[in-house]
Amino acid sequence: MAQYSLVSGSVGLITLKNPPVNALGAVVRHGIVDSVEKALSDPKVKSVVICGQNGMFCGGADIKEFGTDMKGPPLIPMFHSLEAANKPVVAAIEGGAFGGGLELALGCHYRIAHSKAKVGLPEVTLGLLPAAAGSQRLPRLIGVPAALNLITTGRHITAAEALQLGLVDQVADHNTVDTAVKFAQSVVGKSLDSRRISNFQCPPVPNVDVLFEEVMQKIRQTSRGAIAPIACVQAVRAAATLPYKDGLQKEKELMATLFTSGQARSLQYCFFAQRVVSRWSMPNGASWDTSKGRPIHKAAVIGLGTMGRGIAVALAQTGFSVVAVETQEKQFMDAKKAVAGMLERGAKRSGKVAAHDKIIYSQNLQAIADVDLVIEAVFEDMALKKRVFRQLSDVCKPGTFLCTNTSTLDIDQMAAETRQPELVVGMHFFAPAHVMKLLEVVYGPRSSPEAVAVAMQLGKKMGKVSVAVGNCRGFVGNRMLKPYRDQAYFLLEEGATPELIDQALEEFGFAMGAFKVYDLSGLDVGWKVRKEEGLVLPGGGSGKSARIRQGVRYSPLGDLMCEEGRFGQKTGRGWYQYDKPGSRDAKPDPWVHRFLEDYRARHGLVARRISNQEVLERCLYAMINEGFRILEDGIAAGPEDIDIIYVFGYGWPRHRGGPMFYANMVGLPIVLERLEHFAQANPDVPTLQPCNLLRKLVASGSPPISKWREAMKNVHSQL
Ligand code: NAI
Repeated sequence: MAQYSLVSGSVGLITLKNPPVNALGAVVRHGIVDSVEKALSDPKVKSVVICGQNGMFCGGADIKEFGTDMKGPPLIPMFHSLEAANKPVVAAIEGGAFGGGLELALGCHYRIAHSKAKVGLPEVTLGLLPAAAGSQRLPRLIGVPAALNLITTGRHITAAEALQLGLVDQVADHNTVDTAVKFAQSVVGKSLDSRRISNFQCPPVPNVDVLFEEVMQKIRQTSRGAIAPIACVQAVRAAATLPYKDGLQKEKELMATLFTSGQARSLQYCFFAQRVVSRWSMPNGASWDTSKGRPIHKAAVIGLGTMGRGIAVALAQTGFSVVAVETQEKQFMDAKKAVAGMLERGAKRSGKVAAHDKIIYSQNLQAIADVDLVIEAVFEDMALKKRVFRQLSDVCKPGTFLCTNTSTLDIDQMAAETRQPELVVGMHFFAPAHVMKLLEVVYGPRSSPEAVAVAMQLGKKMGKVSVAVGNCRGFVGNRMLKPYRDQAYFLLEEGATPELIDQALEEFGFAMGAFKVYDLSGLDVGWKVRKEEGLVLPGGGSGKSARIRQGVRYSPLGDLMCEEGRFGQKTGRGWYQYDKPGSRDAKPDPWVHRFLEDYRARHGLVARRISNQEVLERCLYAMINEGFRILEDGIAAGPEDIDIIYVFGYGWPRHRGGPMFYANMVGLPIVLERLEHFAQANPDVPTLQPCNLLRKLVASGSPPISKWREAMKNVHSQL
């Protein structure tokens, strides 16, 4: 609702009340319209102030109303009547004014913000644009370049930046509403013509066409197929080149296109899915609301390689005291230097002091006796990890949480080496750990809900999106990656090139195709693992069995590349060629094409034309099928957990919602039919066999993704 009161004898005060962020739901909109009418018709009222309750102005439209038949007064006419008022209307912005909230403030004649308030138009992050005239008013107020930046990125800015841009008129350090009331009294009687933004011309920009062309090109390169940023540019262009009324019409048309696009639905799904995964649960019924963590003050990181360094930096930057342990002398010296550099660069970016004093380095495990939590990041070697967990259990005080950053290994085997296996969980970070947002929190059969709660809370404090998952090889993310990568290799055998496959995946929206990722992370990493698993044969093996291991189809192509010393970017040669080792600029390599031709000839394979569609179907549906198996096995609590992992950790385009949401959009019967087709053509590839859960969902009429959890319960009860 919106509460109306008369204050200081002559100011009509309208307070938005809709916890937690005073969103502009139908009731609030009714409240505003009624209150404005009262204020304007009351002769005692000379000016109006709009504020929000509980220190928050307004978080914007009520996202729950999106896609429904919106009832109640629409926003644009409401803002127009505010702007047209013949009494000054002042927005008193505390906390934040976002999206529709900022558009409301732009409809007012003046804006006063608290110094700690933030403002922004984040619609683009939900696949939309500020379509309550925000795309038309903002450029008129602060100019085209600044408006383009805010609207196409959705970034939130501080009150100080807003003042500098001319977006707010004054910044208050103390009581913003009091300041606004006084301000409102002081401007009574002044002409309002120069305060009505819709009457403004956009400040002229030299070479406006060139500016828009440059911005558009940049956005096309970075948006990876997302259409909302492009529509935002088009809307601002309309503001810059058309009269307000026509610009508004263009804004409406663009919004209609966005609203009906699957992209807005995907992005809104991601928004809600993030909340869903924070409310984690375990198959034993323990969950976020019943499990309490314990405060962590001091943590240790064991092993300062690629991951340990990033984890130590992330912990120190969050404010934890860290003991960083590395046993190898050279690594120890290198790591100290590298961590210091990372902290310096982080401090430069954030404007904070580098947290050097938060980290104590040691080559001795005894130094961690008093820590509350340990994150182990030594080599991916079970024997070593078991030894380290035995030592940790001996050295650490009782009650210390012991976490492993393993990317694939069995948490329970490590827990079995300790005195308190219930305190062992996986904390699977992604490289670089101080940058990447995702954290998989892996619970084993003996992990206590308390340990999971501690890891989830720690992740949250570190600014990570944490997802609780069960214990299996590769957990959720890496387990699903395997069938995807297998398909990419099989497609090479059948006639594709690395560039063809990567292009299809990048056009779909992945940040990088499968083979560019291999080159970046190093082909030797997987080679080492496969060797340990006994999968690698010298020269790739021979005869028919060369392409079969343990009874299923196997491609030795990656092993053969490694035998040639082609490890990717680090050696300057991999699935692509690079100018020099360490260079990132991937160029197609004729050597690789010849290598593939020789390979096919050796194995009697005839290359065929492979379409982008086939690349997508084979790679993505194989991955999605594994996702359904993960749900069936109870490793992920719901499709949202899988999707958030893929969006935040694996470069899945957010505007496509995540693999499970994508399957839902494509249609489960289609995914099932294509998998059946591919499984029939490739009987030696079991990951293409459609899994039970997918079949059952299709048989039960393909319920929408929001109903899958329910459907999964039925499947589990039948198993
Ligand atoms: P790395 O090889 O870069 O570093 C491992 C470090 O541990 C080395 O500096 C080594 O000297 C040190 N170390 C070995 N034994 C030790 C001991 N007993 N005490 C103290 N230090 C010891 O390995 P990386 O890439 O950092 O991986 C570490 C773990 O993180 C592995 O389990 C890996 O699977 C996992 N992981 C790796 C990711 C990646 O992208 N590199 C991503 C996510 C997880």
